[in-house]
Amino acid sequence: TITTLNALEILDSRSRPTVKVVLTLDDGTRAQAQVPSGASTGTREAVELRDGDQSRYRGLGVRTAVANVTGPIAREIIGRPFDSLETLDRALIALDGTEHKSGLGANAILGVSMAFARALATSAGQELFEFLPSVGSQTPRMPVPCFNVLNGGVHAANPLDFQEFMICPLGAPTMAEAVRAGSEIYGALRSQLADAGHPVGLGDEGGFAPDIAQPEEVLDVIVAAIRAAGYTPGRDGVAIAMDPASSEFRADDGTYVVAGEHFTSDQMIDRYQAIVDSYPVWLLEDGLAEDDWDGWARLTGRLGDRIELVGDDIFCTNPAIIGQGIEKGVASASLIKLNQIGSVSETLEAMRVCADAGYRQFMSHRSGETPDTFIADLAVATGCGHIKAGAPARGERVAKYNRLIEISAAHPELPYGLPD
Ligand code: PGA
Ligand code: ZN
Repeated sequence: TITTLNALEILDSRSRPTVKVVLTLDDGTRAQAQVPSGASTGTREAVELRDGDQSRYRGLGVRTAVANVTGPIAREIIGRPFDSLETLDRALIALDGTEHKSGLGANAILGVSMAFARALATSAGQELFEFLPSVGSQTPRMPVPCFNVLNGGVHAANPLDFQEFMICPLGAPTMAEAVRAGSEIYGALRSQLADAGHPVGLGDEGGFAPDIAQPEEVLDVIVAAIRAAGYTPGRDGVAIAMDPASSEFRADDGTYVVAGEHFTSDQMIDRYQAIVDSYPVWLLEDGLAEDDWDGWARLTGRLGDRIELVGDDIFCTNPAIIGQGIEKGVASASLIKLNQIGSVSETLEAMRVCADAGYRQFMSHRSGETPDTFIADLAVATGCGHIKAGAPARGERVAKYNRLIEISAAHPELPYGLPD
């Protein structure tokens, strides 16, 4: 039983306000959670409540969400016995009463849901990853960390339209060695960029933001950095994942604008195929836009056997939308972001829908983060096998990777890598 529930307006890594929740149980257990926030958001994401009061934080304050936690939510749940996380989440969803959590705010609801999950784990004497359930036939394992080493799109001020270029040590023997590879390649990449005269400033997720416009040119530099650091580019060593976040560069006429040039969906698919033919790219997220379902189906038909195709903006971690994707043969995996759907239970449900259909689940942070490490434990528990949490640099990003190192060191029996 929850005895106290408090919330606070704190800052995220982009200096925008976000919600922190602190609660206590009647056995004295105390737990907290901090909510992340995205920039390239899908239109069907759960609603992140912002005050809109232009006199504070350019309208981005979250005092209303905080007040919803300490007011209506506290009145509803304090003193009431909830025997599981699902019963609490169901009560919050019912209290909100809207389809996309615009009543109380997904930032308010998710903060309470995450904090309660932590409290239940602590109260049971378990680590969070031991308390959270596995998904489908998957069993707990250490996920491949996908380090976003080069940023573009709405996460950086450079001319690059593709948002994320990730290095993924698929062939690493352990989590610690995977993190080491990520860090060493990140360092090599900085040297390569600096030597070529590019600025080495960082984007929102800690990756470099050089003044390069063409994705293929970025891939050349990353492959060179993998080699320079002494690793082998490819699935047996370190492979590359891309998240163009293409909804962000789709023009009103339906074409995609890359480095000033217009491409139809089919021309984008041709370009991706050429990239997969020439570079060690094993995963493509949001290669096409969230409302380009026909294009997505053709993309899946063309490349679905060769690489993992992840739906982010198109699915929004929404079990119902993912179900439609499965039916239509769209993508082969879903990105998993807690705050896209707004509660821990519904996130687990989205992962179950994926697992039952043979779709992979790619655990994800947001571009606006905090030191909260919930997603590291969630990735291990569910056995989803891969996670992206930004560069191997900056506190809010390395917090997740360091948590994974910690779990792995304490539990060497957990296997590393993708599920079968
Ligand atoms: P966001 O970006 O957190 O800004 O939405 C992450 C992503 O697109 O995967
Ligand atoms: Zn994405």
